[in-house]
Amino acid sequence: MKKRILTGITTTGTPHIGNYIGAIRPAIEMTKDSDESFFFLADYHSIIKNQDSDSIKNSVKNVALAWLSSGLDPNKSYFYKQSDVPEIIELCWILNCVTAKGLMNRAHAYKAATSINENDPDKGITMGLFSYPVLMAADILMFDSTHVPVGSDQVQHLEMTRDIAARFNHLYKPILTLPDPIIQDKENVVPGLDGRKMSKSYGNVIPLLESEKILKKSVMKIVTNSLEPGEPKDSSDCTIFSLFKNFVDDSEMKSIQKAYDEGIAWGEAKEMLFNSINDELEPIRLKFEELKEDNDYINDLLSDGAKKARDIAKDKIFQIKEAIGITKIS
Ligand code: ADP
Ligand code: TRP
Repeated sequence: MKKRILTGITTTGTPHIGNYIGAIRPAIEMTKDSDESFFFLADYHSIIKNQDSDSIKNSVKNVALAWLSSGLDPNKSYFYKQSDVPEIIELCWILNCVTAKGLMNRAHAYKAATSINENDPDKGITMGLFSYPVLMAADILMFDSTHVPVGSDQVQHLEMTRDIAARFNHLYKPILTLPDPIIQDKENVVPGLDGRKMSKSYGNVIPLLESEKILKKSVMKIVTNSLEPGEPKDSSDCTIFSLFKNFVDDSEMKSIQKAYDEGIAWGEAKEMLFNSINDELEPIRLKFEELKEDNDYINDLLSDGAKKARDIAKDKIFQIKEAIGITKIS
């Protein structure tokens, strides 16, 4: 059986280096040993939590550019917007009809949302949030994906996808492929400027696509302790040191450790870190600058991607509809 990897990227916010190291870089790396890869912009997922249409629009563009600038080759992968493949939404409805409500009641995201409500547990909760895992199952099952790279917070959604697919296969015909998760390195949480997990919700990010000047400014803002130059520095639990690990090789790490032992000044450590990050981000930034004004190019590329993806989706939805009895009268 072909190894077909697929992953969705929710289009909220502007990508930061945590997204790059935790999601973009490993996924692009993974395309090298798969037969086929599918990367899509999960724009219908993004409207679950964000109703600001301008911010959604900007984010779709920025996320698309982040992936393309980071080296995603649209000739080798399927790259499309979820909303451009309407068969996914058809499948989503069909799957809704075989998914037990009780299964959705157990979803972490839904439970977290109800747990902060006091009197009415469902206050502020939409059907979109409640059935989020069904849309994700449709994304995955539409393309017979065999391997799905996700962060550890998404593993439950993969288990639900397998449950839903198995139920469909049992009720109708075994035509849906049960996918395996590929769980991204849980240990490697990229720290943000304040030492907590880098996340747009904490406002502590180092941006991926901004100018060199802004990159430098944010690296200089990393919070350190007040040890003076010349005093040995502890590299465990150090934001600068953890960030270094993601951009330089083992032998360079050894000399950085030595510099810590010898009491490198924080200013100097930050300067070195900036240079290491900048070396990797420079080509990405150049590509971004080249593409960012060319909306036609990005739109054409996404629409070609959707066309290719729909060729597969149309065949599959036809088979699925036949299996459930929605077909020509005969
Ligand atoms: P944010 O926390 O900024 O909202 P998302 O939740 O949208 O980021 O994450 C998108 C992807 O980037 C996920 O696959 C997630 O695992 C990865 N990611 C986000 N932040 C980090 C981080 N600090 N370290 C490693 N990976 C991260
Ligand atoms: N829910 C995923 C996230 O927030 C994004 C996503 C949507 C996805 N559909 C998917 C990931 C299908 C993998 C497969 O990160």
